[in-house]
Amino acid sequence: MIARPTRSGVPAVQVDHLTVSYGPTPALLDISFQIEAGQLVGVIGPNGSGKSTLIKAILGFLKPDLGEVRLFGAPTDKARRRVAYVPQRGAVDWDFPVTVEQVVMMGRYGQIPFWAWGPSREDRQHVDDALVTVRMEKFRRRQIGQLSGGQQQRVFMARALAQGADILLLDEPFAGVDAATERALLEVLDSTKQAGRTLIVVHHDLATAAEYFDSLLLIKQRLFAFGSPQQVLQPELLSEVYEGSLKAFEHLRDVSTGGDK
Ligand SMILES: Nc1ncnc2c1ncn2[C@@H]1O[C@H](COP(=O)(O)OP(=O)(O)OP(=O)(O)O)[C@@H](O)[C@H]1O
Ligand SMILES: [Mg+2]
Repeated sequence: MIARPTRSGVPAVQVDHLTVSYGPTPALLDISFQIEAGQLVGVIGPNGSGKSTLIKAILGFLKPDLGEVRLFGAPTDKARRRVAYVPQRGAVDWDFPVTVEQVVMMGRYGQIPFWAWGPSREDRQHVDDALVTVRMEKFRRRQIGQLSGGQQQRVFMARALAQGADILLLDEPFAGVDAATERALLEVLDSTKQAGRTLIVVHHDLATAAEYFDSLLLIKQRLFAFGSPQQVLQPELLSEVYEGSLKAFEHLRDVSTGGDK
């Protein structure tokens, strides 16, 4: 994988006073943060706290009521090619009759010119590389509906990789996958980060958040904290945001400070 140079000083993702609503109550309210290129960032928060909404707003799928999102200094509609998205599991129609290979090739469509007959040798190579990276090359002719949940996640990861995007947005990529697949996917995220790409990953498991991510965004409609896992995984803060007893989060104090990071 080749690292993409970015203009120094320009953050990969800049979110300023972002407010997004579906109805009368905002799902996100006055959120501001910025992420430098080459960071692996986790988004945590309880169900319904606005994590998927944040990802969709960064993608430019949802129009903000107020505020804005800039990607490498540009408005979202000018940077769409540079962003890849792995949706949350329930959001995909798995009965759609396409093969693994076709799904991954969809990641290349942005690069295939309209006058071309079809994918180039280079496009095919990107697709092959991505399938090997997620260890799904043996399933390339399989219909996506005939895969297990963890395999489906890997295929969507391959599509994002094949796109060659600079920013990857992943909505709970580890949901419902076994421990070995989770490890394999995490290695892919890490190597993608090592290549200079920026990853924002919605994540549910607070116990692994400190180990997996460089920094964490804790949201519940508002941005409650953004910083290192040590700064964010404070039991007092978590019990407030998750509305759980302090005791339920005490063990995370050790996870966030005693790890091998
Ligand atoms: N299409 C929609 N129309 C109306 N309200 C929506 C829509 N999508 C989400 N919401 C609401 O916006 C809020 C944030 O939803 P969102 O999906 O961003 O939460 P989340 O943090 O991703 O939750 P989960 O952990 O369950 O995936 C919730 O109150 C939800 O009910
Ligand atoms: Mg969600």
